[in-house]
Amino acid sequence: MPDWWDGRDLRSMLPKVFFVHFCNTSFVIEAENLLIGFLVGFMSQTDENVGYIHFVGVHPKFRKEGIGRKLYNQFIEQCKLNKRTIIKSCTSPINKLSISFHQRMGFTIEAGDDEIDGIPVTLNYLGDNNPKVIFRLDI
Ligand SMILES: CC(C)(COP(=O)(O)OP(=O)(O)OC[C@H]1O[C@@H](n2cnc3c(N)ncnc32)[C@H](O)[C@@H]1OP(=O)(O)O)[C@@H](O)C(=O)NCCC(=O)NCCS
Repeated sequence: MPDWWDGRDLRSMLPKVFFVHFCNTSFVIEAENLLIGFLVGFMSQTDENVGYIHFVGVHPKFRKEGIGRKLYNQFIEQCKLNKRTIIKSCTSPINKLSISFHQRMGFTIEAGDDEIDGIPVTLNYLGDNNPKVIFRLDI
């Protein structure tokens, strides 16, 4: 993950339990046995309208080739099968790439409780002092 996330080590955010219990809503794309993209998502247990994308990553050498879009489309199909009408996701305000990607994918940014660099953020969404930009897509 540090290689794919500009040196940020986010491995603790993806404990193996995700790969045990969210297999139906998580996807990988491989090319010749090389992992070139993955998405980890799940259906919200709390809000029966919502599917949530927890992580998406594409190998740096394979970016801007439509792999991220393909992973998102796959998840959207799974959400429709589960009668979900809203997809949510979040990212750190420093991750401008992710913000641009989500906007290109049609997501809007939810109103938060503060702003960083002019972008609405929710300050304590994933814990104290861990502001996040929250995305929403109606499908
Ligand atoms: C964000 C990420 C998953 C995008 O994957 P990707 O395969 O390059 O994206 P795609 O090629 O499918 O692009 C989908 C759309 O986003 C746009 N996009 C992709 N990267 C972009 C960038 N750096 N800046 C602006 N727009 C971008 C594309 O132009 C495309 O829009 P279009 O079809 O209207 O032209 C990838 O850059 C990545 O893994 N980044 C590091 C990890 C990360 O930050 N993950 C997200 C937070 S968990």
